[in-house]
Amino acid sequence: CRVALLAGGKSGEREVSLASGEGARKALEEAGYDVTVLDPASKDDLKRLIDGPFDVVFLCLHGKYGEDGTVQGLLETIGLPYTGSGVWSSALAMDKAKSKQFYQMEGIPTPPSMTLHRGEPYDAKALVADLGSHCVVKPATEGSALGVRIVEGADEIEQALDEVFKIDNEVLVERYIKGKELTVAVIGGEELEALPIIEIVAKNDFYDYESKYAPGGSQHICPAPLSAETTSYIQDLAVRAHRVLSCSGVSRSDFILEDDGSCWILETNTIPGMTETSLLPDAARAAGISFPELCAKLVRYALE
Ligand code: DAL
Ligand code: MG
Repeated sequence: CRVALLAGGKSGEREVSLASGEGARKALEEAGYDVTVLDPASKDDLKRLIDGPFDVVFLCLHGKYGEDGTVQGLLETIGLPYTGSGVWSSALAMDKAKSKQFYQMEGIPTPPSMTLHRGEPYDAKALVADLGSHCVVKPATEGSALGVRIVEGADEIEQALDEVFKIDNEVLVERYIKGKELTVAVIGGEELEALPIIEIVAKNDFYDYESKYAPGGSQHICPAPLSAETTSYIQDLAVRAHRVLSCSGVSRSDFILEDDGSCWILETNTIPGMTETSLLPDAARAAGISFPELCAKLVRYALE
């Protein structure tokens, strides 16, 4: 089976994507696939992708122009099967604000928030009155916590909005919820399986870009030390999030669990990080699925 592995791309997560690509390439080769790594930021590589011959595309692109439905649209057009979610689902999941509307429809708790668009007038004091003074300001369509700021009060919200609008046209101001940071991967074709929950203990205030990628920046506890009942409740929320966003093959949803047991979904990633120390491969290992086996499963779901 000839696999074109796409990594790199043009988003703010390019470096992470290259690292994911390297992790997945090794794992796929170990699983016996013939792998060609291509970077869609290169025109020559795009031509090689179109000319082929390839049987399947393994996507390791994160963020805009890769995780957001754009590359999926190209692959649909040229008729190549690919790992993960389709065009619409990828575009929906990339947008944290629109995803929230789907979580709410499905009854999955998500922190109260307001969505603002560049150029739209807003009243920071009214935001504080609605959401509380402790808020998270985040670009609606970025990944890896790029640009995310935790703020206190109307003045800091205004400053953060000025900054975050430099990188996204759509910004979310969300109530800050204090609790454990958890992530739950879901894999499968027609039958879905939630992998063991990971609790993330970040060195910084939250699981920001540095905690994610600097050596020793965070610790993963897997399976997270939760009761069986809480574990299956949160795994079920992750499966429902996967379904309501129409994801395929794999997703990884991020949650905050408060001390009182309330669990809130923050977002769903349709192309989770695939470096050797990333969350999805870790969760799979805890379920007895090696990294090469995980990659082989994703290829199989793509070809189903
Ligand atoms: N956006 C990063 C790659 C993740 O969710 O793992
Ligand atoms: Mg994300």
